[in-house]
Amino acid sequence: MKLIIDTDPGTDDAVAILVALANFDNKEIVGITTVAGNVPVEVGTKNALRILEFTGREGIPVYEGCSKPMVRELVTAEWVHGTDGLNNLDIPTTTLQKQELSAVDFITKELEESKEKITIGILGPMTNIGTVIKNNPALVEKIEKIVFMGGSALRGNTTPVAEFNTYVDPEAAKIVLNSGVEIYMLGLDVTNKSITTKSRKEKLIKINNKASNAMLHLMTSLDDLPLVKEIYPDGTPVHDLLVSVFLVDPSIFSYKIVNVEVEVDSELTLGQTVVDSLGISERKPNVNWVYNLDSDKVYNVLFDSANRLN
Ligand code: BDR
Ligand code: CA
Repeated sequence: MKLIIDTDPGTDDAVAILVALANFDNKEIVGITTVAGNVPVEVGTKNALRILEFTGREGIPVYEGCSKPMVRELVTAEWVHGTDGLNNLDIPTTTLQKQELSAVDFITKELEESKEKITIGILGPMTNIGTVIKNNPALVEKIEKIVFMGGSALRGNTTPVAEFNTYVDPEAAKIVLNSGVEIYMLGLDVTNKSITTKSRKEKLIKINNKASNAMLHLMTSLDDLPLVKEIYPDGTPVHDLLVSVFLVDPSIFSYKIVNVEVEVDSELTLGQTVVDSLGISERKPNVNWVYNLDSDKVYNVLFDSANRLN
């Protein structure tokens, strides 16, 4: 597989990147592209570089992407991830540098030039990929599949109905979802079913290596936020992790192809993903909507990844 990880790191993005690094080599991960979302894009780029240096994977290039959504002002989530995006994770700063090329130019070039089709894992707002597809619609032929974290069939986490990533750049999400690419949506419907329980935290503590300790910090650093405590008394979801786990082993998940549209007009429901899980609308199915998973197996992939990274 040839894989691009598009991300706004982000605590859960960082966990997802660690799991991807444990399971795919430098030839498979052709680049990490960053985008504005949880934190301003320059902060996210630094975080991607820090994680690569931390894991000794300096060979993977990082391309900085769009600094704001396609048509709207940027909304960030430092209240969840901290101003550094990693909630003060104690790993060294880095001297590694991003590539000259922008993320949009890199993805475009890679799709144009690669003989093999490319899989894209999206962990943040879809601004980079939306821009690539808008500028070069024919390039969708070169995308093997897109696996993204975002949206929700039921309630949201940023507005009552909208999840953060689709809320931040709904126009980009609309372009991607209607692009004709094979798409897998890992929304809050499944991320909320896979939380970091007490026993899972204990397992990470037992592994006790560099990677597991970093994961533990990233996965528990939100636990004390009052709103988080109220919504997730038994442990928090690690949303973006599911994208990497899906890429490693899709058999852990249940999905079906349905129509998913993103609201871009209404102020009240902006960024909502309308998931026609019952096929009521007669709109064309365009997304493999993931609706269930085996949570223990998800965490087994995580533990195995921590052990392998060391
Ligand atoms: C998504 O929003 C971000 O805060 C997380 O990194 C994740 O991608 C969850 O709604
Ligand atoms: Ca993210």
